[in-house]
Amino acid sequence: MDADQNPKASEKKTIGPPTTSAYLDPHYWDERFSDEEHYEWLKDYSHFRHLVQPHIKPNSSVLELGCGNSRLSEGLYNDGITAITCIDLSAVAVEKMQERLLLKGYKEVKVLEADMLDLPFSNDCFDVVIEKATMEVLFVNSGDPWNPQPETVTKVMAMLEGVHRVLKPDGLFISVSFGQPHFRRPFFNAPQFTWSVEWITFGDGFHYFFYILRKGKRSSADEELSQSHDKPLVPTISMFHEELEGEDYIFRTNIDEMD
Ligand SMILES: C[S@@+](CC[C@H](N)C(=O)[O-])C[C@H]1O[C@@H](n2cnc3c(N)ncnc32)[C@H](O)[C@@H]1O
Repeated sequence: MDADQNPKASEKKTIGPPTTSAYLDPHYWDERFSDEEHYEWLKDYSHFRHLVQPHIKPNSSVLELGCGNSRLSEGLYNDGITAITCIDLSAVAVEKMQERLLLKGYKEVKVLEADMLDLPFSNDCFDVVIEKATMEVLFVNSGDPWNPQPETVTKVMAMLEGVHRVLKPDGLFISVSFGQPHFRRPFFNAPQFTWSVEWITFGDGFHYFFYILRKGKRSSADEELSQSHDKPLVPTISMFHEELEGEDYIFRTNIDEMD
């Protein structure tokens, strides 16, 4: 969590679930959002705004996946991007986000209850799809990160296929994540996708990843990566775990199912 963005004591309250499996349960999120006003996973918009800005124009149509109670959409709106649609699986998150944005006068922003694994939008309709820490939910209980459970693979591919489908032919998918490239690339570079895949890191201490995937721009280098299964010569567990704060750390680990 980014403490800078949660100055009030009441907003600092976080409810770490007893096991990471809870993050897969929509009831967990509903219950949590009932009494939590703001929690910013990973980093707030101010930390990666400089990376987003070159890619989103004021007239871009933007879809945010799994908005929760983050202020990402407010940050984009304040930068002049008003054609925003936020979705979340949690009805409570959606209702509270709608209320909050209306109160602030951000009337153009649409907030819908929807599943990112089954996006209720037509093909080729968004310039940008953005998510922050939402894709991570799909990796909870994924098992060996080099060889995720088939159920994890199915869900991640359903999400990515939906994102690719709803993006305009030259649209962008921005993913803000702590998922390292050697674990994300096998998914992003799957042969059915026409996007190029690049990333940059940001943050002090722990490095977060800002992925940018450009639909229709897949290169021969991306093709090669899609066929390569090379593993890096580093441990699979991030050396920076201890630098992740409280709940980000819990979320990042997959060990609670192991005795
Ligand atoms: C880790 S939180 C991230 C929230 C927010 N993006 C942020 O950066 O603070 C994950 C969010 O994804 C939502 N979520 C989980 N599964 C989802 C799904 N299948 N479709 C849409 N939203 C989902 C949860 O309700 C929760 O709001």
